Amino acid sequence: MKPIILTLTFALSVASAAPDGKQLFTTNCSACHMLDQMVVGPSLVEMRSLYDGKSDDFVKWSIAPQKKRPGAIEMPSQAHIGEEGLRAIYSHVMEVSKGVLEKKQEKGDPYAAAPMHLARPQVQRIFMPNASPASIAVALDDTNSLCWDAGTCRLRYAWTGGFIDGFPYWKGNGSSLATVLGTVKYTEQASPFGKDALVKFLGYKVKGGLPVFRYKVGAYQVTEAYSPVGEGSGFVRSFTVVTTVPLILDFPAQSGVSITADKGKLDSGKLSLTPAEAAAFNLTFSLK
Ligand code: HEC
Repeated sequence: MKPIILTLTFALSVASAAPDGKQLFTTNCSACHMLDQMVVGPSLVEMRSLYDGKSDDFVKWSIAPQKKRPGAIEMPSQAHIGEEGLRAIYSHVMEVSKGVLEKKQEKGDPYAAAPMHLARPQVQRIFMPNASPASIAVALDDTNSLCWDAGTCRLRYAWTGGFIDGFPYWKGNGSSLATVLGTVKYTEQASPFGKDALVKFLGYKVKGGLPVFRYKVGAYQVTEAYSPVGEGSGFVRSFTVVTTVPLILDFPAQSGVSITADKGKLDSGKLSLTPAEAAAFNLTFSLK
């Protein structure tokens, strides 16, 4: 047996009392596992044939996967999810695979063929270019997507066009990157809370398919949620910040991007908020 190497130590599991197996599966496993066909890893149908009634072994594998199938990449350890979460995933896998038959593997990225919002999960942890390994790709709607970095607790960039192609990632050794399918229209160089602020990621939940991130930055406790603008290109960013002092956030001007705030004063890329305003405010980023 090879030693257990915890490659992913970020707490990216869902921050709720009873873990939601379906959601945990979508976020942590679905980039590599589909219901009824082998993609990067075996299908849920095959998992069922191997692990039905053996939840302990399933959890063990997920924490310390082995090299088993010739030609397959090495599955990264899922230890960060925790045993309870993995058991919830186990129940989900056994439930959805019941009575389903294995299909032949399709060529290329199987998600690419179907309309994006129907096929690919909207929130996926996957290795992304220009971001830390703890990145999360989010599809807000059919044309607007973004990369949020849980390692540094900040938005990295947003793009318009398609979502991501995970196939390079799948075919590689687990360290190659997904490809952005579109044009990056907005890039954030630093956290709006300051370049050198210490951050701690506290997890996220998914509401209506879209993520709400929780983190600490400096002395502040923050939630940051994303939604589509409705018409056109861009996104709405909804913050809650617990603070007893006024807050100034940096959103440096970028060509092709117009930013509006529903609270506070936004002047030359600086948003000033009273503690009461900081408790809940929205920024709309419109992209050309
Ligand atoms: C980066 C891709 C990737 C991710 C993410 C991933 N897996 Fe895997 N998984 C694989 C690969 C590849 C294999 C086959 C490895 C082999 O046979 O050498 C595999 C195999 C498995 C197996 C079969 C074990 C066996 O005995 O043959 C199970 C069960 C499994 N994965 C569960 C999970 C669960 C649960 C998650 C999410 C919590 C997950 N995987 C996330 C790539 C992945």
